[in-house]
Amino acid sequence: DKIVVVMGGTSTEAEVSRRTGKAILDALKEKGYNAEGMELNPKTFAMDIQKAGAKMVFNALHGKFGEDGLLQGTLDMLGIPYTGSGVLAAAITMDKAASKRVFISEGISTPKCHTYNSFEQERDLAGEILAEFGLPVVVKAASQGSSIGVYIVEKEEELAPAIKEAFSFNDEILVEEFIKGREMTVAVWGDEDKKEAFPIIEITTTSGRYDYNSKYTKGASAHIIPAPVSEEKTREMQELAIKTYTACGCKGVARVDMMYSEDETPYVIEVNSVPGMTETSLVPDAGRAMGIEFPELCERILEMAGF
Ligand code: DAL
Ligand code: MG
Repeated sequence: DKIVVVMGGTSTEAEVSRRTGKAILDALKEKGYNAEGMELNPKTFAMDIQKAGAKMVFNALHGKFGEDGLLQGTLDMLGIPYTGSGVLAAAITMDKAASKRVFISEGISTPKCHTYNSFEQERDLAGEILAEFGLPVVVKAASQGSSIGVYIVEKEEELAPAIKEAFSFNDEILVEEFIKGREMTVAVWGDEDKKEAFPIIEITTTSGRYDYNSKYTKGASAHIIPAPVSEEKTREMQELAIKTYTACGCKGVARVDMMYSEDETPYVIEVNSVPGMTETSLVPDAGRAMGIEFPELCERILEMAGF
């Protein structure tokens, strides 16, 4: 039975996805699966995947088309099963504004935020944002990943350019209260009846910013596992991660990113329904910390998808 690992594509994270896809493909082959890789061509995908004779798709796509529900919807129409979240969970979690609405309605701790549409750009958004949030403030394009389109604005004169840049990626942007504290993440996996949180990872960087470069350059960031926080706080964050995963309707493995404030309050920042699996990524390290080597992790993800 053939597994096709779909990767690449046309999103801003295509290169990251190829690295995720290659790691997964190597792992599946090591485990003896009949697996092959496929570069996503959005225009021909529906034909390509049928011609390939895929019995299961391992979704290794980050961002647009692969992590936002579109690939999932296409595969649902074709009747081909796939790993990870379905249409709705992918669409919600890829859109940082939509996921905020879910967090807020479910009482999930998350930084205060305001969303803007591109047609509101004629207004003095910078002025409004300064009045509402002060500085520093975080400006984000709504539907990107790997910190692309994310700006931590510290100086007033940088705010208007950051807003403009963020709108160059998406028609919707999100402005968020800056939480001073430590960067942490909790992966969750499971199905309807049993969900399990991975050990918490704290991320430290040499540059002071966990941005695209420090995410994908070897040695630019360190993963501290388990994060050095009390047992009580560990449990609180793991429960928060499971609650968030459940509220968004995720399946397979997803990663819930958080900020842990100076007064030790965790805030959910976002959910990644196709978390990176590159050699510098977080989930593979968290898996190893609970005794699951990467090939086995991939195998368990396949099993959760019904393979
Ligand atoms: N968006 C990247 C791939 C991640 O969350 O790991
Ligand atoms: Mg993300």
